[in-house]
Amino acid sequence: PTRLTIAIDGPAAAGKGTLSRALAVAFGLAHLDTGLIYRATGRRTLDGTAALEAAQTLTAEDLQADDLRTPEVARAASVVAAIPEVRAALVDFQRAFARRQGGAVLDGRDIGTVICPEAEVKFFVTASDAVRAERRFKELVEGGHDVTLDGVLSDLRERDARDSARASAPMVAAEDAVTLDTSDMDIAAAVQAAIRLVTEKT
Ligand code: C5P
Repeated sequence: PTRLTIAIDGPAAAGKGTLSRALAVAFGLAHLDTGLIYRATGRRTLDGTAALEAAQTLTAEDLQADDLRTPEVARAASVVAAIPEVRAALVDFQRAFARRQGGAVLDGRDIGTVICPEAEVKFFVTASDAVRAERRFKELVEGGHDVTLDGVLSDLRERDARDSARASAPMVAAEDAVTLDTSDMDIAAAVQAAIRLVTEKT
């Protein structure tokens, strides 16, 4: 069988993570959350490491830091992610993962456009700002973070604006991506729709 690569892009809290994990399980593929790589890099800059140095010397251990899901780290991630040299330092690892023997699902912002333009299936997952803020707010509250819905909404908007406006690998749907708007879908429905599309395209 041919090796399957699935690229999943879209703004923060649109459901990329859940969808990626479900597709990886359904099709027996490895999964890489590329946001984690930028979060781990951003996380190190909060300790005073320079952004490029942080990206160039990132270790597996950095990817396991337990505070990568905080709003502060998300913001730091999107700041370092706008630096072209930082992105360049992180490309090889992501492409090597995508070429793994068994096939892979990668999720992020530039997977379908830059990291895996050759992916067999590409999704651009979106949802309204209100729905995304609601979802992320719930996750953060469940994780014990002291946040407000308004604060989460403005953080998401600021991050999406920065990710879309940057010159280097901006967040944009690939021309051949299928857009999946999850505003009015529960997770199970979104997963079913995505599995159907992958099956049709392969
Ligand atoms: O996906 P997640 O929200 O964890 O990503 C954190 C940040 O990392 C994003 O806001 C974006 O700035 C950056 N990122 C990126 N390219 C990717 C994945 C994430 O620029 N492929």
